[in-house]
Amino acid sequence: MKRKRIRPPKISGMRPESLMMSHGYRPEDSEGAIKPPVFQTSTFVFRSAEEGKEFFSWAYGLEKRDPERPMGLIYSRLNNPDLEILEDRLNLWDGAEESAVFGSGMAAISTSLLTLVPVGRSVVFSRPVYGGTDYLMEHILPSFGIPTREFPAGGDPSLVDRICLELAGQGTPCSMVFLETPANPTITLTDIEGCARVAHAHGALLAVDNTFLGPLYQSPLRHGADLVLYSATKYLGGHCDLLAGAALGSAELIERIKALRTILGTMLDPHSAWLLLRSLETAKLRMTCSRKNAERVAGWLRKQPQVSRVHFAGFPESEAQKEIYERQCTGPGGLIAFEIAGAGEAEAFQFLNAVRLIKLAVSLGGTESLIEHPSSMTHADVPLDEQLAIGITPGLVRLSVGIEHPDDIIADLAYALDQIESVAPIPTVSEGHRAERS
Ligand SMILES: Cc1ncc(COP(=O)(O)O)c(C=O)c1O
Repeated sequence: MKRKRIRPPKISGMRPESLMMSHGYRPEDSEGAIKPPVFQTSTFVFRSAEEGKEFFSWAYGLEKRDPERPMGLIYSRLNNPDLEILEDRLNLWDGAEESAVFGSGMAAISTSLLTLVPVGRSVVFSRPVYGGTDYLMEHILPSFGIPTREFPAGGDPSLVDRICLELAGQGTPCSMVFLETPANPTITLTDIEGCARVAHAHGALLAVDNTFLGPLYQSPLRHGADLVLYSATKYLGGHCDLLAGAALGSAELIERIKALRTILGTMLDPHSAWLLLRSLETAKLRMTCSRKNAERVAGWLRKQPQVSRVHFAGFPESEAQKEIYERQCTGPGGLIAFEIAGAGEAEAFQFLNAVRLIKLAVSLGGTESLIEHPSSMTHADVPLDEQLAIGITPGLVRLSVGIEHPDDIIADLAYALDQIESVAPIPTVSEGHRAERS
């Protein structure tokens, strides 16, 4: 690889899945290797002190770079070929100008918020959101002098408008409206276009966590969002073997976010970036298979007497949800949340302890099906009374449907549902790993 990475010309008009094997990389820069190597290096050697000075002056914004002259590689906290190629490829899915990759989804979310929301300005967010994001909104940002206000996921954008007006009246105008749609774990959809209009009318940005449906089934930038955020740990990585995050948007926003990423050191590492490049080649295949499986599984769950409610983007629960789904999503994705009829935590645990093929684990979007209990796991930080208010009941379980044969997933769920009254108490660690029981 030449030290100055030259972006190959973009092949226009082709679909992202066609370009995931080649975009952003020239084999001739790496001895003809068809795949980019892992640039497992902390630093890059300059050809001369003058060159090093120039690269730093561009990187730190001390001098404006001539667009004809490519930026050079400096140090892997600032730039690295694997990260850059990955960022170029991510742009294609969401139609973004630029993107920045991070060591985790939370690194992407927190670095972006800290960049774009100054102290004394506020954030309005849809709730529920992933538990870590919830903690950031409820505790960390306010402790940094950034007040936050919630509105219910799926709520009309006029609610956001009212909250923004109140915040402006209190002297802490809103700088960012943050949506997670579909919401984790209730799969409630929030109107991106409507919230973008309101955010922009108040001079705020609209950020959307697109982890559940992106990049295949929802493209927030095309609906007016300014920033798209991902836990790339999920569908983008797709194999439950890495942690990563991403922020996508205009070149101007992403440059600012990258400047803070450099200082906080929240960037992705080269090896995980390389793994993600490999994952992106099969993103469409994996997501299509898990979506098809989820459609089958969700339809089956709806007919089971032990299941009282199924939350699935493909089964909108109201006219308003249906309208948002049809306008904003191109498919329902692979996540299902469902309520076990009349269940408290004990019955939910009996069910969860009985699955054999499906793995009892948090996270989602991997090749294997995963199941978890939001109330006591991913959303354990949310106080119980607030959980109930936002739809997280003790009988709710969240299933990420993988790429196994759908009949086998259904057989496993059927077996586990049948065990609800009769499963033995949970073994202690000394009694052995639960997998050994099955
Ligand atoms: C919707 C959503 N956003 C963000 C995150 C955080 O991502 P990470 O675990 O990669 O930090 C998660 C994690 O589960 C999530 O579900």
